[in-house]
Amino acid sequence: MARTRRPLIAGNWKMNGLKADAIALAKGVADAVKQAGWTDREVLVCPPATLVSAIADAARGTGLLVGGQDCHAKPSGAHTGEIAAEMLRDAGASHVIVGHSERRTDCGETDAIVRAKAEAAWRAGLLPIVCIGETLAEREAGKTLAVLETQLEGSVPAGATAATLVVAYEPVWAIGTGKTPTTPEVAAAHAHIRKVLTGLVADAAGVRLLYGGSVKGSNAAELLAAGDVDGALVGGASLKADEFLAIAKAA
Ligand code: PGA
Repeated sequence: MARTRRPLIAGNWKMNGLKADAIALAKGVADAVKQAGWTDREVLVCPPATLVSAIADAARGTGLLVGGQDCHAKPSGAHTGEIAAEMLRDAGASHVIVGHSERRTDCGETDAIVRAKAEAAWRAGLLPIVCIGETLAEREAGKTLAVLETQLEGSVPAGATAATLVVAYEPVWAIGTGKTPTTPEVAAAHAHIRKVLTGLVADAAGVRLLYGGSVKGSNAAELLAAGDVDGALVGGASLKADEFLAIAKAA
């Protein structure tokens, strides 16, 4: 199959941002995205849920995409404090991150929960970015590839296609630590992910695989050049427009 994977640079703002600063940040990114007029890459920001609507307004007409950081599996109901995928869509989101390691750890999200959330994203018309990644202990025990395989098999819903699934490989030990795997380690993980996806997705060759974990302007080009890397999921560096745009430019 021809390689048609358009790189996706996604910013995960996590629990950061009050309205004024967040809109200023989004506008800075949106203006640059509009000016660049990229058709060969996509740029996405995932603000906290309270800001999705305002950021979607700020991004409208610029080409900058907006997503949520998590969603509930159900469309509505008695789930205090939760956000449905439909609500994100209604607020102007087109994407949603599911299964981020901070949610897997802080909220006890299992692969089955992540899978249900990815299905909820489809139901609402959102593109899910399914996150997987090994802990340091798992890496040191030589279990990285086995862990990724288990997480993929449990988290990717049946019927996923290259058009309805993005996978983000985020080694837990690389998130927010300034540490990254070597380029060959990233390439090996991504090659394995694509191999496992071949058994789960009809057009696995077209699924975009993002790398995440301490991506910044200065290491983006090298990480994005690793085999089977089709973009980045960026945390800390997505909170500074210049830094985030440097990563987008490196794609
Ligand atoms: P980081 O976070 O870029 O700050 O390491 C990445 C992520 O958690 O998505």
